[in-house]
Amino acid sequence: MKRKSMGRDHSMCVQPMFLIGTRDQAGQNNFAPITWLSVTHDGQEYLIVISLYGDKKTRKNVQATGLLSANLVSVSLLPLVDRLGNVSGNDGEKTGMACGVSEGEVLPVPVLDESPFVYELEVAGSVVTGESETFFCHVRNVTVDERVDMTGEPDLTQLDPVIYSGDYHSLHRHLGTIGDFLQ
Ligand SMILES: Cc1cc2nc3c(=O)[nH]c(=O)nc-3n(C[C@H](O)[C@H](O)[C@H](O)COP(=O)(O)O)c2cc1C
Repeated sequence: MKRKSMGRDHSMCVQPMFLIGTRDQAGQNNFAPITWLSVTHDGQEYLIVISLYGDKKTRKNVQATGLLSANLVSVSLLPLVDRLGNVSGNDGEKTGMACGVSEGEVLPVPVLDESPFVYELEVAGSVVTGESETFFCHVRNVTVDERVDMTGEPDLTQLDPVIYSGDYHSLHRHLGTIGDFLQ
């Protein structure tokens, strides 16, 4: 393969997309699309890693309460993503949410009824790098659409996640499991 150099300004990273649910201290719910989400392990448990830039309402809520939900975005939720990503909770309540909101099953966090896979998260710690803050979060509960087979590893095509690279993409094939491609 011959590649071409693109310089330093390309931040493309193949990422899933989540709508992060938070609540402020006055009890107002807020959701915002976030793609800077990953996972690590501290030796005892998995920690979800979420990076938030600037002074967005989501960051303020997470700093204040230490609690959040991460709602996987399936393709059917893209209209909600485009709406929620273009307004800030700093400017008042986000209206026109075409999706029901429920309470987390373990934590007092707002959860989107139409998300097929939801983490309920509690902040363990954070690291500030310039204008961003990266939160490391304990997983306190996971809820999954009951129609999805969770007996082994989930078949992501059933969750129909949006994959983000600057544009939106979807998954179409389940290729196998670890070891299937050993020669
Ligand atoms: C597709 C998409 C992905 C985004 N990903 C991130 C992200 O990973 N981190 C981040 O800080 N902001 C991200 N944003 C920006 C926030 O969603 C946006 O600033 C939003 O208005 C914040 O709302 P809030 O102030 O109510 O928290 C993304 C926006 C879109 C549309």
